Amino acid sequence: MLELMHDTHLDFGKPPLIVPKTASKPSSPRPAKGCANAPTPVQLVAAAKPLEKETAMSNTVPVRDAHPSTKALTTPLKDMQKTLPLRVLSEDDWQHWTTYGYVIVKEAVPQENVERIGKVLWDFQGMNPDDPETWTKPQLRDHKMKELNNTGMVEIYNHQYLWDNRQERRVYDAFVDIWDREDLWVTIDRANLNPPNKASRATGGFIHWDVDTSLRPLPIGVQGVLSLAKQDGDVGGFQCVPELFQKMEEWLKTQPEDRNPMAPDTTGFEVVKIEMNPGDLLIFNSLLAHGIRPNHSENRVRMAQYISMHPAEEDNEKERDIRIASWKNREAPRRDAFPGDPRAWEKNNSEVAELTPLGKKLLGLESWH
Ligand SMILES: [Fe+2]
Repeated sequence: MLELMHDTHLDFGKPPLIVPKTASKPSSPRPAKGCANAPTPVQLVAAAKPLEKETAMSNTVPVRDAHPSTKALTTPLKDMQKTLPLRVLSEDDWQHWTTYGYVIVKEAVPQENVERIGKVLWDFQGMNPDDPETWTKPQLRDHKMKELNNTGMVEIYNHQYLWDNRQERRVYDAFVDIWDREDLWVTIDRANLNPPNKASRATGGFIHWDVDTSLRPLPIGVQGVLSLAKQDGDVGGFQCVPELFQKMEEWLKTQPEDRNPMAPDTTGFEVVKIEMNPGDLLIFNSLLAHGIRPNHSENRVRMAQYISMHPAEEDNEKERDIRIASWKNREAPRRDAFPGDPRAWEKNNSEVAELTPLGKKLLGLESWH
């Protein structure tokens, strides 16, 4: 039976997994090839110290909610041998994915989709894109995961336009490439609208994992973020530590027993900030340490929708019922990582999202078999 692990305390205390080494790999991270205007990762040279400080802060109050991981596979994703032909990724993309733990799918959704969900996010947050005076509202509810406070999370989960992106064929095909299988469920996740992190919204950014890296075998999971606005320069957005992903087995052996398994000490590693165009989809391995860097721009915002897929868990009726109820009732999934919306905006302002035949399977409303 396929099983998702939502409880990160499972499997504690098991012996460490020795992960086989991969074949020879490129020596430094680079953007995915085969894509027009491929983004250039830029080293965050000056960020090392503030990040260490921020990580130390998050270490004091660890909340161990976890992104869904799967037991449907036993081989780590970086060691996967493909059986299905690639649909969206190029061979170079695949090599980059297995080496550095992330890949960028250019123009994963049409620009029209990007624009319409963008407008909804502004409305949802009660902000006017043309009036920066409205951008400094406090978040609606504090996060249990402290590092997420003031990072611009938008507690919207089941709007039609979010679902339209989830059921976009190119997005699905990219995840079929990653998982090498077609029977997938999409994560019901939120969005991000992060205006400049100034005054009461100031934050230092963070680097973390959404899975527990003390578990053995290491969790197998995939995450994704669809960019809804130009992400470059000082506007903030996604940052990650690909070198740590590449060297993780050796690095783990050097770490103290009491390290925080949800947040690494990034000393000695380069933190890479990712540049993306609106409509680009970044897919990353859950073992890639990552986070949000603060928006230091004057008057630009970072906008994104979190989208990921994982092997469907059709035998798990409880989980399927929870997912369907979340979609139907327009509510946040009940997880520590998701504070939800105290106003129930979605329930009061939108209809149940219409699903395509693909969307029904991605939710669990219809079976893949
Ligand atoms: Fe995360």
